[in-house]
Amino acid sequence: MKGIEEHDDYFKQKRNAANVLGQSCLKKVVAAFCIFAYGVPTDALDEYIRIGESTALEALRKFVAGVVEIFGSEYTRMPNEQDTTRLLATGASRGFPGMLGSIDCMHWTLKNYPTAWHGMYKGYKKEPTIILDAVASKDLWIWHAFFGMPGSHNDINVFHRSSIFARLAEGKGPQVNYKINGHDYSMGYYLADGRYPSWATFVKTILEPQGNKKKYFAKAQEACRKDVERSFGVLQSRFAIVRGLARLWDEDTIHNITTACIIMHNMIVEDERDEDDYNFNDMG
Ligand SMILES: *[C@@H]1O[C@H](CO)[C@@H](O)[C@H](O)[C@H]1NC(C)=O
Repeated sequence: MKGIEEHDDYFKQKRNAANVLGQSCLKKVVAAFCIFAYGVPTDALDEYIRIGESTALEALRKFVAGVVEIFGSEYTRMPNEQDTTRLLATGASRGFPGMLGSIDCMHWTLKNYPTAWHGMYKGYKKEPTIILDAVASKDLWIWHAFFGMPGSHNDINVFHRSSIFARLAEGKGPQVNYKINGHDYSMGYYLADGRYPSWATFVKTILEPQGNKKKYFAKAQEACRKDVERSFGVLQSRFAIVRGLARLWDEDTIHNITTACIIMHNMIVEDERDEDDYNFNDMG
């Protein structure tokens, strides 16, 4: 709240021309959080904190923009050297040296989208969907989240999508060195399912595995990949707004809301992270 208040003058409590004190920063932030929790502004909001619906919506819009601007660089960062060391140690301890996380995507259907959007989705009979592709690690931290609305004509999203795919494909990021069966490798990888392209950075499961070795591999791969599903589940249960998205918002705001949810999700992960996770000494 302090960060948001310092960042955006909108959150500073002011007096109007009639010398009446406006809403406090705390009320505006609580209003924003109520919408995160319930998905939409409710009458309860009005009764509980005495803030009107339009003020609550405005507060949320400004709140997410602030969160993205203030905390985005830290909580949506590329893995740094320390992160990479931690991710690699976790991967190795689960039988996947060189593994940096798992990638998957989550879809929602947009319901009751505003009429203003109909034009953007001309030709699409079905309700438009939102896709969130993301990499997650065992601690449920969400890395490289990218967000798209297929059928929308917003080039920014297309750009986001391809640039992040490209980043993963090129294996850009910190240097990663590991050995498997006597071979040296210098590029980390992500566990993925069959929908992802066949690139060296995506290690997929074996369909209809034959033999114990392959069966074992498929089972281990699928077990680790559950990390992403779990983090999506946690994200959605923490922030009902993620499930109820697009009822009220324009595309830019949806982008900011989703990013702000991921940022706050990662803050919680960091806060709850077991200190033992940092202790690599006992990892064989
Ligand atoms: C989304 O967030 C960015 C960065 O914080 C901000 O500049 C932009 O105005 C926000 N968009 C909307 C629609 O609020």
